[in-house]
Amino acid sequence: MANQDFLNEINKRRTFAIISHPDAGKTTITEKVLLFGQAIQKAGTVKGRGSNQHAKSDWMEMEKERGISVTTSVMQFPYNERLVNLLDTPGHEDFSEDTYRTLTAVDSCLMVIDAAKGVEDRTRKLMEVTRLRDTPIVTFMNKLDRDIRDPMELLDEVETELNIMCAPITWPIGCGKEFKGVYHLHRDETILYQTGHGHTIQDVRTIKGLDSAELDAAVGESLAEQLREEIELVQGASNEFDLEMFLSGDLTPVYFGTALGNFGVDHMLDGLTEWAPAPMPRKTDDEREVSAEDEKFTGFVFKIQANMDPKHRDRIAFMRIVSGKYSQGMKMNHVRLGKQVSISDAVTFMAGDRERAQDAYAGDIIGLHNHGTIQIGDTFTDGEKLKFSGIPNFAPELFRRIRLKDPLKQKQLLKGLVQLSEEGAVQVFRPLINNDLIVGAVGVLQFDVVVARLKAEYKVDAIYESVNVNTARWVSSDDVKKFEEFKRKCEANLALDGGDNLTYIAPTRVNLNLSMERYPEVIFSETREH
Ligand code: G4P
Repeated sequence: MANQDFLNEINKRRTFAIISHPDAGKTTITEKVLLFGQAIQKAGTVKGRGSNQHAKSDWMEMEKERGISVTTSVMQFPYNERLVNLLDTPGHEDFSEDTYRTLTAVDSCLMVIDAAKGVEDRTRKLMEVTRLRDTPIVTFMNKLDRDIRDPMELLDEVETELNIMCAPITWPIGCGKEFKGVYHLHRDETILYQTGHGHTIQDVRTIKGLDSAELDAAVGESLAEQLREEIELVQGASNEFDLEMFLSGDLTPVYFGTALGNFGVDHMLDGLTEWAPAPMPRKTDDEREVSAEDEKFTGFVFKIQANMDPKHRDRIAFMRIVSGKYSQGMKMNHVRLGKQVSISDAVTFMAGDRERAQDAYAGDIIGLHNHGTIQIGDTFTDGEKLKFSGIPNFAPELFRRIRLKDPLKQKQLLKGLVQLSEEGAVQVFRPLINNDLIVGAVGVLQFDVVVARLKAEYKVDAIYESVNVNTARWVSSDDVKKFEEFKRKCEANLALDGGDNLTYIAPTRVNLNLSMERYPEVIFSETREH
């Protein structure tokens, strides 16, 4: 039996990420969440990134210039009785692979929706990903300080478009200039909004009950009347919160507020920390489930990031601890290599700063210094041979040939590309029939990042040329004979990726379809698990 202190540590952890469409307010809400988590004293520090180590590294200069966030960072802070891990995901479409993999490392998600716009593209896609694991979703309708769409209509849209039931926990009173606050259905109280308090935590004024003269006076008779009518409707027509259904990903509690005005974020956090699941089990390749309460240490790497700190030009492998406890100096088994490693200097990611982790438990993320031996998807254990499953690589959709300005640096170029592909920053393909290096990406911005990083980190000047590749599939087959024939006949279209996996690179969709028809014994995969 695991001891009670150990179980308490695990059960107080809540690990989540934010999913949203760009511009819905993810950065702003992150900042307010950290403010409530007392990880920062005053809002403005995350967005400005002035004190943040990320702003310092070279290729992140590019991110700043373009006003997008390409990095995934992890922040831990206490809230109520819980210890919260918030995993930031890049918002820009071009880095969606990173986002997908980060979503394998969390136990719940916060979905932020711009209430003036409703459900947008990227949210739709990300919700599909969370569905793969039935991740519980909490919803925040943002920007109530603007004119928003009818709240009822917003809930309808979430229900029909995202196929998840909505249970409003708070309900807005007016919006835009007339935004007065929210009524909390579970607490039966109105929480009044005051403008101008976006940067700090303020005392709020609350009014108990709906039939109150104080409420009429505070929000005006007409809005108070409208609220009473709407609440009657909401209580009759919408779903009540149900914990089981939330945990199975079938129902989402919905909160209204404004991240910019720092209003409603704490209501959402209260709900999330109370209801979101403690660290969940993870599946292994042999269909076993490893429980977070298992005392034996296990974890998997879902992200590798270079250059977090330019002073140490190393790379950090982000590991989600699945079970057990990490303590400084412990030995771990790096399963893929079958090697014992001693970890003396893992880092945690307290908001804004790296700190040496003393202890970390299931649900936490730790960073391991990586000198090229760790790959995305690697499992670490305290000795057992197991591998966690479900960390995907996606078939790229954009391809370019990469060429050196100085041909003598071919070896460095290859080394850089292979390392960047291990990180998941880009994918690299080497055709079997020539010495080309083809770079594949899911989004066009990845190409720029790769060239910038090759220059900064590997000192090679590279340029792109167009290449006649339209799409790629990882290929495999159980039929050895047919596979040999396929490899012989299609050699001109075959390449090895960064991990030496065989890939079919097709000049056109038509070509791909023809080959798939011609070789039904061959499996053409759009994703490859690490
Ligand atoms: P993202 O990370 O999801 O892309 O969104 P981000 O937080 O950067 O917010 C996108 C824009 O929306 C920002 O404005 C931000 O200030 C604004 N915003 C976020 N929450 C609210 C809200 O509750 N109400 C209103 N009215 N606006 C909100 P920007 O002009 O693009 O940037 P900035 O110049 O304000 O930094």
